Amino acid sequence: MSKIYGSLQLFFVSCFALLGFCSSSFIARDIITLNQSVIDGKTLVSSGGTFELGFFSPNNSNNRYVGIWYKRNPVQTIVWVANRDDPITDSSGVLKLSKDGNLVLLNRSETMVWSTNILKAENPVVQLLDSGNLVVRDDDTNLSLWQSFDHPTNTLLPGMKLGWNLKTGLIRVLTSWKNHDDPSTGSFTFGVDRRGYPQAFVWNGKTKEYRSGPWNGLQFSAVPEMWPNFILNFSFTSTADELYYSFSLKNDSFCSRLMMSSSGKLQRFLVAKDDKSKSWNRYWFFPKDQCDNYRACGAYGICNASASLVCQCPTGFKPRDPQNWFLRDGSGGCVRKTEFGCQNGDYGFLKLQDMKVPDTSQAFVNESMSLQECEAACRRNCSCTAYANSKVTEGGTGCLYWTSELIDLRVYTEGGQDLYLRMAATDLAKSQDSEAHSSERKRLTVGLSVCVCVVVLVLPFICCFLSKKRKKNGCSSNKKTEVRASRLKGQGMQFVESNVSSRREYSGEYNKDDLELPVFDFATIAIATDNFSEANKLGKGGFGTVYKGKLKGQEIAVKRLSKNSGQGQQEFKNEVILIAKLQHRNLVRLLGSCIDGEEKMLIYEYLQNRSLDSLLFDKEKSSSLDWAKRFQIIRGIARGILYLHQDSRFRIIHRDLKASNILLDGEMNPKVSDFGMARIFGGDETEANTKRVVGTYGYMSPEYAMDGVFSVKSDVFSFGVLVLEIVSGEKNRGFYYDNSEFTLLAHAWRLWKEGKGLELMDESMKGSSSADEVLRCIQVALLCVQERAEERPTMSSVVLMLSCETTTIPQPKFPGFGHERIPLETGESSAKQESCTINQLTITIVESR
Ligand SMILES: *[C@@H]1O[C@H](CO)[C@@H](O)[C@H](O)[C@H]1NC(C)=O
Ligand SMILES: *[C@@H]1O[C@H](CO)[C@@H](O)[C@H](O)[C@H]1NC(C)=O
Ligand SMILES: *[C@@H]1O[C@H](CO)[C@@H](O)[C@H](O)[C@H]1NC(C)=O
Repeated sequence: MSKIYGSLQLFFVSCFALLGFCSSSFIARDIITLNQSVIDGKTLVSSGGTFELGFFSPNNSNNRYVGIWYKRNPVQTIVWVANRDDPITDSSGVLKLSKDGNLVLLNRSETMVWSTNILKAENPVVQLLDSGNLVVRDDDTNLSLWQSFDHPTNTLLPGMKLGWNLKTGLIRVLTSWKNHDDPSTGSFTFGVDRRGYPQAFVWNGKTKEYRSGPWNGLQFSAVPEMWPNFILNFSFTSTADELYYSFSLKNDSFCSRLMMSSSGKLQRFLVAKDDKSKSWNRYWFFPKDQCDNYRACGAYGICNASASLVCQCPTGFKPRDPQNWFLRDGSGGCVRKTEFGCQNGDYGFLKLQDMKVPDTSQAFVNESMSLQECEAACRRNCSCTAYANSKVTEGGTGCLYWTSELIDLRVYTEGGQDLYLRMAATDLAKSQDSEAHSSERKRLTVGLSVCVCVVVLVLPFICCFLSKKRKKNGCSSNKKTEVRASRLKGQGMQFVESNVSSRREYSGEYNKDDLELPVFDFATIAIATDNFSEANKLGKGGFGTVYKGKLKGQEIAVKRLSKNSGQGQQEFKNEVILIAKLQHRNLVRLLGSCIDGEEKMLIYEYLQNRSLDSLLFDKEKSSSLDWAKRFQIIRGIARGILYLHQDSRFRIIHRDLKASNILLDGEMNPKVSDFGMARIFGGDETEANTKRVVGTYGYMSPEYAMDGVFSVKSDVFSFGVLVLEIVSGEKNRGFYYDNSEFTLLAHAWRLWKEGKGLELMDESMKGSSSADEVLRCIQVALLCVQERAEERPTMSSVVLMLSCETTTIPQPKFPGFGHERIPLETGESSAKQESCTINQLTITIVESR
């Protein structure tokens, strides 16, 4: 099979090479000079071969348009159209550079249907650049006279500016196509509004549809997922001359474009340049839910997409008309219970967290004020209703304040901003009273955990000090310790004990509970693993190499962490103490650790049946996994992750769940390993993971793979992939380097939709299975891999759905990455449907508890 693929590949590669050769020697040119032309059927190709300009007809149309598209894409993706409102009805069109220096498009009767409309140029030349920009420039001075980047259609490419040139008065906006088959000017525009504090809007005609919020230094206020981003750079430039939004790629191994669909939805697409299928992945889209609709909840109404009542009033406010939340003319929304007075003491400020800041088109801005000055400014103006920082960078700078009703508020689970809402002192006091109870309890817990933290942080220092003292006194007579001590000379490493028993001697002196984990010295581990011999090597993963060893008769697995964890010894120590506290029958048990200068090691119990992937994906060994075992494994993994997410004292997101991280003991009990690694790899983890990602892309949730955003729901996604792999015995392949048609997720989804879910099952366990259980597992897995994180169940629901036959399980929706690539035109009703499903899901789960 792979041979066939290989030779096909070779065939295509040589075809492309041949084509490239042909085009460069015969037709490919990127320049039109005076009196030259491009006729229908011929094209210009940019020097790097990325873009092509020529005549095209959209899908179901015979009209001819001059446009620019990606040359290498199998499905023609138009990024720019010249004569969008003036099609040519036959193939007689000619694009030429006229004597006066204009690029013009003529039809059969030599009538000019489109022109660049510049006044006059002396020695013009037209060039299609590899950025996709078509430029008319003066060949003598090289001065650009006209460029297609200044006249965007529905697509923003890297380097294009969306916004204003204040000197020339040029305004660049995206304008939608009328429909999929018709590039003529549609009703939606996307651009930058200069008023107040600038924001981007999608307008339908003159009506505001969606608001990006202002640029807060890192991202648009309404798009928290913009930052951090490992693939794209976003920027918002505001100078005396220019005001624009723009993006670029951090490295040139990807192509990306931002497009506005004909229904006004923004979509960003991405493709890796070495992706053989060359098909676009939808990377981001907006709006995401009903809260992204402009003023979804009216004045002062706060939209919360994850609440059962989506629109809520802030404390001190009440619904103006509870029946009419969604009236977009502003008649809905909230009103104050009490108007605030203007004397000091009459009013106060309520801090709302994680907010999208309200519409700033009429806000007052001063970028050099601090938050205190901002509050003072707000207090000085009796009509001021709220204030906030204008930038979130550097801990928050600048001042925004509003003197009108607050419009278009929403709250995020994370990534929003603080907003200080002015209200009458009486309402503020009431709200504080009613919250006093719960917050007191909260404070108590916070206090407690601070205590725990202090203990955890301080104790090692005490121990450090003690063991130092002890060594000075010559108490440490252990030979191995001496070996190690000489190795460590000058490295300031004292916090090492030679073995378990010597540690026990101290146990009376500090909280045993916090320091139960033995610390081994380097020499002990080196001996146990036969000096990290090749023969003892069990495997290698992103975080380091694993060796088998034997310590006091017990078999151990030693994880020697790669050196780039970027973590200090003390931090490592703290993390290890934390991880050691995680004890569950479905987690691999940590036996100890070892630190020696750069070397950091974790010592685990050794598990007889090694890792799940070594059995599951091996055609011979996989027959040893019958359905009963697989189901037991699935449920065990679910319980292990649930413990990490919820039941342990420290919430842990695993971030790297995959078959090779599931180990099996002698009875085939699954044990999750590598948990807490993300913590050990501290601040660099996201970077580390992104570099490492390539190998395990198949398990990554879209939001993690694309935006580096982790949450418990990213683990849920990986779990879903894992379950599909366990059921099918097939490995899910990554999405970048394979056509999505062939991913396991897409395959599973298709079978499920066709009612043939059981066909997904691994051949080797047919006969041993219970159809009910298999189908339930597939259904749960498909719920877990849904594209939108908020629609995926939590692990507690997963455990419930897996274990309880009577639970109603919701119907899954198409999986992230698994669906056909470009379901561009989602219907208008999609947002509403989605929120229904969210509610349905939550309700079902709640009821079944
Ligand atoms: C050429 O374009 C002009 C203006 O759009 C139009 O009136 C004319 O009919 C066109 N000629 C042909 C042959 O299509
Ligand atoms: C902005 O605030 C600073 C500090 O309060 C003040 O000096 C400056 O004049 C203000 N600028 C404007 C335009 O109001
Ligand atoms: C309050 O601010 C508004 C808007 O900036 C302004 O029109 C009004 O004059 C200010 N009022 C006072 C008392 O400063």
